[in-house]
Amino acid sequence: MGKVVLITGGTSGIGLSLAEAFLEEGAFVAVCGRSRTALDRFSQAHPQALAVQSDVTIREARAAMLDAVSERFGRLDVLINNAGTFVERDFTGDAHATVALEQEIGLNLTAPIHLTGEALRRWPSLDAIVFVTSGFALVSPTRAPTYGAVKAGLHGFADGLRRQLAPQGTHVLEVLPPTTDTPMNADATGPKLPPAEVAAVTLKALRQRRPMALPGQTKLMPTMLRIAPHTLGRMVAKL
Ligand SMILES: NC(=O)c1ccc[n+]([C@@H]2O[C@H](COP(=O)([O-])OP(=O)(O)OC[C@H]3O[C@@H](n4cnc5c(N)ncnc54)[C@H](OP(=O)(O)O)[C@@H]3O)[C@@H](O)[C@H]2O)c1
Repeated sequence: MGKVVLITGGTSGIGLSLAEAFLEEGAFVAVCGRSRTALDRFSQAHPQALAVQSDVTIREARAAMLDAVSERFGRLDVLINNAGTFVERDFTGDAHATVALEQEIGLNLTAPIHLTGEALRRWPSLDAIVFVTSGFALVSPTRAPTYGAVKAGLHGFADGLRRQLAPQGTHVLEVLPPTTDTPMNADATGPKLPPAEVAAVTLKALRQRRPMALPGQTKLMPTMLRIAPHTLGRMVAKL
């Protein structure tokens, strides 16, 4: 029987590619997002999937989303914490450096931790929990140090949770995409990985029950961190 998969932020970019890849495999897919227009567009393209309007930073909205998954599919097998945002911040004297910092931390770090706890309380033997962090979880970007901080925080959560849930057989996978061609990155220049490639590497890592999925250039990061951390830092600083 197909797995039931919930993808936060599944209406755009990496989340949308993940939803499409799972649907192609015959999974039962639920996605969430805030924009009604994006959800309707998703539903038109994928009428067999469930599209729930939910802001994952709001506790009641997360509960209603899990209720909707339960009502439609009766269970959840795979939770994918994907919704996130990238905020550039200049701490060299910009008075606005910390504007809306709580929202950034809430979406990128606190919400996925809460949602994971809430999902595990309902379905203690989830098959897998996925966290979409970033290559910037390993080396923080010069132009967005708080993004690096929160993604590193989520990396740490995934790492400890993996060991905590191992005895019950729940696979915890962290996905660390490089710069990917999504609306979040519409203005970025330089090479961008297609989101479908991030999705393909993620599904393969899930099948193989690996701890990490390292698509594109991030594949080299763990080795570079060990043998040439300063060179890696200089390379990332330019991104
Ligand atoms: N693109 C990259 O280069 C890149 C690289 C490494 C890691 N990542 C990570 O990959 C993940 C996906 O990024 P992306 O580039 O695919 O972004 P994207 O195209 O901007 O999509 C973000 C998705 O998250 C949803 N979302 C945003 N805020 C939300 C909220 N409060 N509640 C529920 N849903 C929300 C958006 O829908 P609504 O706006 O309608 O809510 C949208 O569906 C993020 O965690 C990001 O940090 C991206």
